[in-house]
Amino acid sequence: MAGPAQKRLVTITAAFLAICLLLVSSHHYYALPDRAPQNGVNTTPASSAHPSNKDTAAADTSYEADEERFGHSPDNVAKPGHADHNDVPERVANPKNNGKHPDGREKLAYATLFSATLDQDEDLENDKYFASVRILVWQLLHNPDTRTTDIDVVVMVTPSVSKSRRDRLERDGAIVYPVEYLHIDKSWARPAQPQWIDIFTKLRVWEMTQYSRVLLMDTDSMLVRPLDGIFQDPAAQIQPTKHMENYTAIEGVAPLPPTHLLASLSEVWDSYHEFPPADGTGLKKYGYFNAGFFMLAPSIAAFNHYRSFLDIPNSFDSKYMEQNLLNQIHAWGGPMPWQELNYTWNIRCPTDADIEKGLVSIHEKWWTQPYLYNNDKTKAWLKSRRWEMKGWYDAYDRFAHRDKDE
Ligand SMILES: *[C@@H]1O[C@H](CO)[C@@H](O)[C@H](O)[C@H]1NC(C)=O
Ligand SMILES: *[C@@H]1O[C@H](CO)[C@@H](O)[C@H](O)[C@H]1NC(C)=O
Repeated sequence: MAGPAQKRLVTITAAFLAICLLLVSSHHYYALPDRAPQNGVNTTPASSAHPSNKDTAAADTSYEADEERFGHSPDNVAKPGHADHNDVPERVANPKNNGKHPDGREKLAYATLFSATLDQDEDLENDKYFASVRILVWQLLHNPDTRTTDIDVVVMVTPSVSKSRRDRLERDGAIVYPVEYLHIDKSWARPAQPQWIDIFTKLRVWEMTQYSRVLLMDTDSMLVRPLDGIFQDPAAQIQPTKHMENYTAIEGVAPLPPTHLLASLSEVWDSYHEFPPADGTGLKKYGYFNAGFFMLAPSIAAFNHYRSFLDIPNSFDSKYMEQNLLNQIHAWGGPMPWQELNYTWNIRCPTDADIEKGLVSIHEKWWTQPYLYNNDKTKAWLKSRRWEMKGWYDAYDRFAHRDKDE
């Protein structure tokens, strides 16, 4: 039998422990909502994020070349009837469309394109690709090991993405950015896998001229460390397009943009490579970049240039879709050569050693990694991200939205 003194001791100890727990949890969870406004995001689902009455006459005729965007034109204000993203949430659309914050700083973004996937039904937990996007958003916005500072996180969604998924991504803190499909004439386009046909829609990232520069990553990307420094990489800067006497445009192709930016990395074969890999020490085809990770500068002139190829039969080899198109247009030796980023930023088929040596991000599916061979630590780490993300958001949902639910 416990006496009154012992009972009092038990009560005091319990109260003390409860306060400690509360302090620990508030440290982790109450700090979260503060982050969102910093990135111009709020977690209220925007009713505008649906593709319903979307009139996408899109970017063709009414857009003029945006040479002035990189100059100092005072009136590069979006013209009426020219907005192709009528339903883009207000906080995304920068009315000046000049790639700057109101205080003049450069406006930057991380973006990914999410479209229909093979696992698509209403069971979000079993949609592996959807989990990938959520991991990426979580790593960019929330996870202290990898999160970013003052850079927007945008998920471009095609009409095939369900409302439940859009709502969940908004709640996670992402800016959900609806885009219409960009299609190619199927009579001549021959993607290696027919379901890849939607991937040309990725080119619409060039229409996001509210940003000065954007790092585009495929949804199956993962961060080990923060990526913010990539915007300072010497290769990640806007370049003037070269005038070349020997350049002959394909007939019907829209003019070259006056400036451009495409910075990326050649791909590795598999997990047998040196780190960082180089020509001859693990790169598959030096000079051919992987379009799953690249830096670009939004520009309507550039968008129109790329897009014009889609209407010209056999203007490029469509086997690898937008990747081949961009590699052709930005070939080394041409007027807009792509720039090589530091190979520490991103790699496919990483090894346990790469991660120790400072690898920043990975382009690899969390659930299957056939070319990682026996790098079991890395494989386990990739899988664990999926569950750590889930645990994190389970807590976030309980704590960050507690006031509303009570
Ligand atoms: C065009 O000329 C440049 C040098 O000015 C050269 O590097 C490039 O290979 C040439 N391209 C073709 C297609 O001849
Ligand atoms: C790439 O980045 C790493 C890590 O910051 C640095 O040590 C290395 O010197 C860089 N390499 C080049 C070629 O700039």
